[in-house]
Amino acid sequence: MSDNDPLDLERRTGLPADLLRLLETYPRESWAGHDNIRGLASMWLQRHDMFRELGGVLTEAISNYREGRKDARAFAGFFAPRLEFFLGQLNGHHQVEDMHYFPVFARAESRLKRGFDILDRDHHLIHEALEMNAEAANAFLRSLGEDEDRQRFAADAYAGQNERLVAMLARHLHDEEDLVVPLILDRGEYGLG
Ligand SMILES: [Fe+2]
Ligand SMILES: [Fe+2]
Repeated sequence: MSDNDPLDLERRTGLPADLLRLLETYPRESWAGHDNIRGLASMWLQRHDMFRELGGVLTEAISNYREGRKDARAFAGFFAPRLEFFLGQLNGHHQVEDMHYFPVFARAESRLKRGFDILDRDHHLIHEALEMNAEAANAFLRSLGEDEDRQRFAADAYAGQNERLVAMLARHLHDEEDLVVPLILDRGEYGLG
């Protein structure tokens, strides 16, 4: 993907209109009341909500530490296991999507294939951001045993990485839902193969 690709995850504000025809038929407000929301589609939305919530918890924990509401030790004890869980779950989620669901969905509706390719590319970008995030997080956790200046520096570096990751993830989750949920509602979970 080139640097000025308008569909780049960190640049776009949504999927292109030709991929959102089903969303016009099944707008977000209608999802909860649709019979086919039960099962796969609602499980999908719940997983995404968990990632959003956990991303928010991590962001809040960092700002609690940076603003002195939590000391270094309390922060690290709270933060490290949650970060590990978040990164591991996200990785697993993307693998299942890339290897199982996206190919099935793209076969079921070939006009959406381009959309699933975009989402697949997002996963690679998010994966790189996850690795940078884990590195910055570890540097930060290590710095908690060092002097104040180093702690501040590492905390700022980590907070920046985390902010970027959470923003990328928010865009990706939203666009993925716009593509996947209307398709499931339209065909029914078992109509998709
Ligand atoms: Fe995804
Ligand atoms: Fe997803």
